Amino acid sequence: MRKWVLAIAMIAAVPAAGMAADADAGKTIFNKCKACHQVDKNGVGPHLGGVVGRKAASVDGYSYSEALKKSGITWDDAALDKWLQGPSKDVPGTKMIFAGVKDATDRANLIAYLGTLK
Ligand code: HEC
Repeated sequence: MRKWVLAIAMIAAVPAAGMAADADAGKTIFNKCKACHQVDKNGVGPHLGGVVGRKAASVDGYSYSEALKKSGITWDDAALDKWLQGPSKDVPGTKMIFAGVKDATDRANLIAYLGTLK
């Protein structure tokens, strides 16, 4: 009996997480990032193609802050969520000067969009 309850709880959790994140909505939020980030080229900030799953400060030819180089972060969803709430709170000394995305749903949608970038 207990096993069944657990199995049902796990099945229920997957579609709920899928529904919460909307990559199309995230694409609009990405407009806030475009002043500094492109998908395939470095600009003010490093390119963000394939960023989900990438190690922080690992794009060749981009000059990162010492702070980000030493952060030891890998950009999974949870790490991105924390970063996007306020980069300089997450990694003091980073050179990404950005107030943050305050709304949790906006962040989830944005991270879903980042996951579509190759
Ligand atoms: C004002 C310019 C600016 C804006 C706007 C900006 N960024 Fe950044 N971003 C940077 C800079 C500069 C860095 C490099 C940080 C460092 O080296 O400390 C960076 C780094 C990053 C990284 C780490 C990448 C890596 O290779 O480790 C991610 C992820 C990121 N930005 C995502 C975003 C997202 C998503 C947005 C939009 C919500 C955004 N940034 C908005 C300038 C910006």
